[in-house]
Amino acid sequence: MSLQLFKNCRLASTDFKTIVPKSAMVVNGGVIQWVGPQAKVPKNLKFKKVTDLKSKLVFPSFIECHTHTLFAGSRADEFELRNNGVSYTEIAAKGGGIISTMKHTRGASEKTLLQLTQKRVDSFVKQGVSTLEIKTGYALDAKNEIKCLKVINKLKGPRIISTFLGAHARPPEFSDNAAYLEFLAENLLPEIKKKKLAQRVDIFIENKFFEKEESQKYLQKAKDLGFDLTIHANQLSLSAGAGLALDHDAHSADHVINLDDGLINKFSKSKTVAVLLPLADLYMKCAYPPARKLIDSGATVALATDFNPGSCPSQDLATVGLLARLEMKMTLPEVFTAYTLGAAKALRIDSEEGSIEAGKAANFICTDAELSDFFYSAGFTPEHQLFIRGKEVFVG
Ligand code: NIG
Ligand code: FE
Repeated sequence: MSLQLFKNCRLASTDFKTIVPKSAMVVNGGVIQWVGPQAKVPKNLKFKKVTDLKSKLVFPSFIECHTHTLFAGSRADEFELRNNGVSYTEIAAKGGGIISTMKHTRGASEKTLLQLTQKRVDSFVKQGVSTLEIKTGYALDAKNEIKCLKVINKLKGPRIISTFLGAHARPPEFSDNAAYLEFLAENLLPEIKKKKLAQRVDIFIENKFFEKEESQKYLQKAKDLGFDLTIHANQLSLSAGAGLALDHDAHSADHVINLDDGLINKFSKSKTVAVLLPLADLYMKCAYPPARKLIDSGATVALATDFNPGSCPSQDLATVGLLARLEMKMTLPEVFTAYTLGAAKALRIDSEEGSIEAGKAANFICTDAELSDFFYSAGFTPEHQLFIRGKEVFVG
């Protein structure tokens, strides 16, 4: 066992509302064994390594719980079209959007995808991300979706959580949504389960994309096979996704811009986390989700980038938090909580990470900056050190 002591830090409280000076942490094999005042570090422990954090601020590292980081090609041209009034749905109907990324992703080798994706992963790590969710969903056929899952499982650096999003859009080989979902459920889900390539299944539920009945059947099949669920829900309209997420005890319902009071009330009584993606909302020029109402009702919220080549071609956590403050009336402690413990809850890994508590991984950020310097300047993360399981992480 490698026992480490991190001493002399200013520790953010679990609700990020206060800073506790002269704190210390005992870490055993990458896991926090004890945390508390420096003066009360348990006696008679033999430390292999003692790190003096020199009164720096320490808080849990960030968890990015919703990304589409694996893709090939660019959709920069579409951005200009959308900006000139062509809608996301119109672009998709003309074979652009997700289907255009699909063509590039199917055509890319495992090696190319790994190189492209690893660079993007590194850029998340540079911003203090220790756990990163990555979805498939840009291959949409059996061979290439498996290829993408294999690539995701080869990435290095942070803890990677892979999610199967075969149900992102219907590929051109199929003329019917229900038939495509049945194909995924019969052919891909069992193989993914058997090879342990992903534990989570996601689906994009929206009018004109995957609709209620067919989605419900697919979710039930995934659940029966033992997958955890997460849903792209209520992004473009008050559609069926959020209700289905709540009914199926999905880990999260993501986007959730269009919610009525009944749904908000249901979130407050469930473990399903509302994952809010305001940077995508900025790019999509749509309304922001009702964060204040969700939080005030007692629901758990998380924040994430939704990084993807279409609706959010940016990996910038700082701007996500900034928008949450500027446009969604979230307080700074709420933003930090949403990007740490809230995100851990969205991935249902909150017993393992998301806060600095005994029994959880020693994943933390250490900095000379103050909490108020974060989520303040667009595109800017203050200088910091990132520790994952007690080890400092460097990205070249
Ligand atoms: O989360 N809504 C569906 N999926 C993505 C967009 C994917 C794309 O446009 O490539 C999202 O916004
Ligand atoms: Fe998404």
